[in-house]
Amino acid sequence: MIKFLLKISGWFGGLILLFSCDSGDIYPEEYEHNEGITVYATFAFDNLNAFPDDYPLIFGAFSDKQSTPLASVRIMKPKNHEPVKVSVNNLKPDATSIMLCLTDPGRQPVFSFFEMDINVAGDSIIIPESEISLISYERIQNLVFEQYNCVSCHQGNTGAGNLLLTADKSYNELVNKVSYKNPVKNRVTPSDIGNSFVLDVLEDRNLDIAQPHTGFVTRNDDIVLLKEWIKNGCKR
Ligand code: HEC
Repeated sequence: MIKFLLKISGWFGGLILLFSCDSGDIYPEEYEHNEGITVYATFAFDNLNAFPDDYPLIFGAFSDKQSTPLASVRIMKPKNHEPVKVSVNNLKPDATSIMLCLTDPGRQPVFSFFEMDINVAGDSIIIPESEISLISYERIQNLVFEQYNCVSCHQGNTGAGNLLLTADKSYNELVNKVSYKNPVKNRVTPSDIGNSFVLDVLEDRNLDIAQPHTGFVTRNDDIVLLKEWIKNGCKR
């Protein structure tokens, strides 16, 4: 039986240490009656075209002990640019952080837009309105080049197809760089999706390529993200 320590500070002004067994759900009586706190937040999203569709976007509370949220709410695409108000309720002392993040089907976070440590020993928490940038190069690097393992081939000295997609190199290798397979186009041209060969490769419009990339990117959200980033001028 694996035992672990659960630290609960702030109760009765002291520090109580509890032992629990592996199910993690044996708590003293008082715990059951404890009304947990609520965390309220307001998010203003820019560029709603890059709002996720395939990945659930959640606002959730997390603990150090498990990767799935303890409590969460799903945020649906707002109809207009009004800020979105969300809350997670009844948070118990093991909640140590909150996140606004995209999740996979197993409810694990895959990309976080906003993170904050919380201390639930006190009162409810109100997070001031925060601007959330849905298009970021970090999101592209993580969710496209790393998640789909492009980096397994596009790394090293020159990379497959003379293209490096590792985090330190990818931006400079793509933006305003001429494609070696199809030199009439750039790999990526800011504000010009028609002159961005990376989309031809990923959407399978270039039959000449020795390594077809068919089906590498499985979520439409990630292609939409790339296109929106290009249309909006390729911010770093
Ligand atoms: C299994 C290895 C492999 C993986 C994984 C891979 N690629 Fe490639 N990629 C290649 C090879 C090989 C070429 C060159 C093909 C040729 O010369 O015809 C290439 C070419 C390209 C090109 C064209 C470069 C140019 O200048 O014309 C782009 C863009 C590209 N890959 C993007 C990606 C992206 C984005 C991913 C991930 C979604 C990815 N690749 C995953 C092997 C791979």
